[in-house]
Amino acid sequence: MQTPPRAQAPYPLGYSDAEAERLGRQAARLNSVTERFFRAAGVQSGHRVLEIGSGLGHVSTLVASIVGDSGEVVGIERDAQSIAKAEQYIRAAGLHNVRFLQGDVHELALDDQFDSLLGRFILMFLPDPAAALRSLTPYVRPGGTVVFHEISWTPFLAMAQRLPLWSALVRITHEGFRKSHADMDMGLGLHRTFLDAGLPAPTMRLEMMLGVDEALTQWVYELFQTVQPKIAEHGVDTSALGDIHSLYARLRDEVKDSDSIISSGGLVGAWTQKP
Ligand SMILES: C[S@@+](CC[C@H](N)C(=O)[O-])C[C@H]1O[C@@H](n2cnc3c(N)ncnc32)[C@H](O)[C@@H]1O
Repeated sequence: MQTPPRAQAPYPLGYSDAEAERLGRQAARLNSVTERFFRAAGVQSGHRVLEIGSGLGHVSTLVASIVGDSGEVVGIERDAQSIAKAEQYIRAAGLHNVRFLQGDVHELALDDQFDSLLGRFILMFLPDPAAALRSLTPYVRPGGTVVFHEISWTPFLAMAQRLPLWSALVRITHEGFRKSHADMDMGLGLHRTFLDAGLPAPTMRLEMMLGVDEALTQWVYELFQTVQPKIAEHGVDTSALGDIHSLYARLRDEVKDSDSIISSGGLVGAWTQKP
């Protein structure tokens, strides 16, 4: 089956309640890494921050705690339902320094200037991330910070190879996303993307969570579940996974019995200052 060009591809993860819950669990696992990247980049108390692809507000909440009451976070998100959920989340957290605007990051028209431009797991879904960044940098003041947290599956695929079932799950999940036009190596592409957007070469870091923690198995299994309709739509061969109903239990056993560690995806941070 032919896949649509990336520019027209719908957002592959969708907006179901199950996906909202998965994003919440993912945020709880990743926020400490994201916070390290943002703080290392120079995001700080009092900053006015433009966040793109704000989703359900998990990154916005994190950034609101960094910038404090004297700062502000403006989140850009194209899905109205996600914004409604994010607003509820922000209210429940008692935050008054976050607001969301509905819109596409390619078509923003703002009057404001910001101290920081940032996002997590958003450039990987854009048809031309460098063009998007180029159109957004005028909203950053000279000397302001541009920082993104994106994923890289290259080290993840390599690390997974020691365990056959786990490796099959990682490979098939990767294929499902790739066929849906998500850039699963956006993290490694950030260097080129910043340069193509007219920004200075970024400082970059790669972090991977390692261990036998069941949260790692769960994270990828849940990603697989999310992308399963796309895997079916694109006819990706899943026979290496065996019976799907017993898959999770077999994965857990494989990790437990292997005396080996598994990893998260490669978590990449890249940041620079606008000249
Ligand atoms: C994987 S979610 C990440 C949400 C959040 N940044 C996080 O890490 O929890 C990506 C979000 O980007 C939004 N998005 C994708 N393409 C967009 C675009 N062109 N303009 C605005 N938002 C977009 C999606 O609707 C989705 O909510």
